[in-house]
Amino acid sequence: MKTTLQIEISKTTQSKLAATDFDNLVFGKSISDHMFIADYKNGEWSDLRIEPYQPLMLDPGNATLHYGQSIFEGMKAYKNEAGEILLFRADANQKRLNESAVRMCIPELPEEIFMEGLMTLLDLDRDWIPNKPGYSLYIRPFIFAMDNYLGVRPSETYRFMIFTCPVGHYYAKPVSVKVEQKYTRAAEGGTGFAKAAGNYAGSLYPALLAQKNGYDQLLWTDAKTHENIEESGTMNVMFMINDTLITAPTHTGTILKGITRDSVLHLAKEMGYVVEERFLKVAELEAALKNGSLQEAFGTGTAATIAHISKINVNGTDFELPEKPDYAFSHQVLKKLDDIKYGRTEDKRGWIM
Ligand code: COI
Repeated sequence: MKTTLQIEISKTTQSKLAATDFDNLVFGKSISDHMFIADYKNGEWSDLRIEPYQPLMLDPGNATLHYGQSIFEGMKAYKNEAGEILLFRADANQKRLNESAVRMCIPELPEEIFMEGLMTLLDLDRDWIPNKPGYSLYIRPFIFAMDNYLGVRPSETYRFMIFTCPVGHYYAKPVSVKVEQKYTRAAEGGTGFAKAAGNYAGSLYPALLAQKNGYDQLLWTDAKTHENIEESGTMNVMFMINDTLITAPTHTGTILKGITRDSVLHLAKEMGYVVEERFLKVAELEAALKNGSLQEAFGTGTAATIAHISKINVNGTDFELPEKPDYAFSHQVLKKLDDIKYGRTEDKRGWIM
C-alpha cells in the first residue's frame, strides 16, 4: 500500500522473533516486535510513529487508570500460500472504533491514520504472521485518555496504539456456558455496543462466579427482564433451532456489533438458512434444549472465530449438546470463513484487503 502520512520508524535491535515458540502460542502472550503510536493534543492527531514494543510510562493521575476512558478493537491478519498478508474486514473495525469513540467522548481517529499505521506496522512485523492453518496475527488497536487530571470530564489528550500478537485458537475446546439472570452486562442507553474497556471489567466478577462452578462463560440476558439472551462472554452468540439461525439484534445498543457475527449471518443467508435477528427467550432456549430442536449453539468473535458450545446451564439444569458432525452449519461456516481469510477462495464479497 502506498502511504501518504509521515510515520517515524524506530526499529528494534533485539527482535524476539527467534525466541518465540510458534508451535505453542497462548492467546495474547507473545507480542510482536513493534507498536504504532499516534497522539491527540490541541485538537488533532499527530506524531505518528513506530517504536519497539515496550512498557509505557504513565503518570499515576492518568485519567484512564481512574475513569476508564478507553476503547479497543480486535482484528486479525493472515498469510496466504504465496506469503501475502490478508486482512479481514479491516474497514469494519476502523468504523467500529470510531463508533465506540463517539460514545466514550473520545475524538474520532482519521481512517488514514488507522489504515496506514496498521499497514506500516504489519509490513515491518510481517515475519510475525503465522502461516499455519488455524493461526493468525491478532491485532489490537486501542485509544485511551492521556490527561493527568482527577476531575471527571473527557480528557483533552489521547493516545492511539496498535500492537500485534501471533495466536492460535482462543478456546482450545468447546465451551460450557451458564445463563446469567442476576448480573447484567449492558443496559439500554449504556455502553454495551461500544468496545469499551469497562464493559469487560464489569463482566469479570459474574464470569468468575460461573467459572468457580465449572462453566467457561456466561450467556448474558437483558438488564430489564433477564428473559432475553443477549451475548456470551467475549462473543456474540447464535442458536440453530431446527433450520433457523437465531441471534440477538443490535438495535437496543446492548449488543456488540460483531464483525464475525455479521459475516456469519451473511454467509448463512447465502447458504440458504433462515436467519432471525431477534431475542431468543431463556424459556424458548430451555424448551428447545428439552425437545431436541436446538441443533447447535456457538459463539462468534474475532478472537474466538466460532466457539462451539457443548453445555448450557438454564435455571440450574445442565444440558449437554452432543458434538456436531462436519456437515453441521457451525463447522461449514467456519470452513467458509477460513477459506476466505486465508485466501483459499475468491473474495466475492470485498472482505479481504
Ligand atoms: C475479540 O474477539 O477480538 C475480542 O475483542 C475479544 C477479546 C476481548 C479477547
